[in-house]
Amino acid sequence: MHPDLQEIILSEEQIQRRVAELGRQITRDYQDRHLLTIGILRGAVIFLADLIRHLDLPVAVDFMAVSSYGQATASSGVVRILKDLDETVTGRHVLLVEDIIDTGLTLSYLVDNLRSRRPASLRICTLLDKPSRRKVEITPDYNGFTIPDRFVVGYGLDYAENYRQLPYIGVLKPEVYRR
Ligand code: IMP
Ligand code: MG
Repeated sequence: MHPDLQEIILSEEQIQRRVAELGRQITRDYQDRHLLTIGILRGAVIFLADLIRHLDLPVAVDFMAVSSYGQATASSGVVRILKDLDETVTGRHVLLVEDIIDTGLTLSYLVDNLRSRRPASLRICTLLDKPSRRKVEITPDYNGFTIPDRFVVGYGLDYAENYRQLPYIGVLKPEVYRR
């Protein structure tokens, strides 16, 4: 275990087993349709990379990067698009892939934004869900794990851009935040 971690809450084996299950479920649900997966940078990169290798479907991959307008306006749910898609969404079967749904503000903005581009269908796949923190009503179509209200790192999730490369998910020691 990484020395900055207090505890591992999801092991590499647990994550890999669940990602494979999600891949099989998504493969069944979409049958032979062509799927456009959209990863939300940067946290979803690791999950997306593993997930698509369990999809037995024709799959395209694209990315969006967003940032929230900061703490003061966080409750407004206004997010800024830093990188838009290269692919066209209109008429496509779109799967939004996110690392974690917390307040739901980021994803609800993205869902509205993408719906306005008229996809054939739009679903949400998240690795982690923290439903206790929700500020807007949004429910993922696919969810890896529901977790309690704790700040977690690893498998794509960061604290100050660190720990994304860890193959497991855990909780940081309190002293790490005081550095
Ligand atoms: P929200 O759902 O709009 O509140 O924001 C979700 C985003 O906040 C995620 O994509 C993460 O980037 C970040 N985030 C929320 N909770 C955590 C966590 O426990 N660890 C790391 N990042 C988190
Ligand atoms: Mg994120």
